[in-house]
Amino acid sequence: MKKIQIINGPNLNLLGKREPSVYGSKGFDEYLGELKKRFGDTELQYYQSNVEGEIINKLHEVGFSFDGIVLNAGAYTHTSIAIHDAIAAIKTPVVEVHISNVYAREEYRHVSLITSKCAGLITGFGLEGYAMAIGYILQK
Ligand code: DQA
Repeated sequence: MKKIQIINGPNLNLLGKREPSVYGSKGFDEYLGELKKRFGDTELQYYQSNVEGEIINKLHEVGFSFDGIVLNAGAYTHTSIAIHDAIAAIKTPVVEVHISNVYAREEYRHVSLITSKCAGLITGFGLEGYAMAIGYILQK
């Protein structure tokens, strides 16, 4: 059974409540249940943290044994050299996901410090982006 880790960064614990016009009105727990049904023969683990170092610790923990990591680093995407370095340091491929289309938003969201170390980037497809990232890892 393939093992995939989903990691959500800061403020993504508030999905469903946070700016629903941008991020939708579904909470991640509900969506995770749907993902688990959809990808029934895959072990999907979920982790969320608002703390940069905890996201790095999780990348280190799973990054030498899991088949793939789906990472929405939230605003750390645009600021964190430390998360960039963590992705570079591990073996497991990381797919960068954003719910909103970051290129259709403020200019400071157009810069990602992590994309260059990721297998690829999915942005703007809403929560479906997580399923797309899992689909990529599974067909790899
Ligand atoms: C986000 C986009 C980021 O710019 C923002 O800081 C987030 C969410 C997204 O999923 O669209 O927190 O990563």
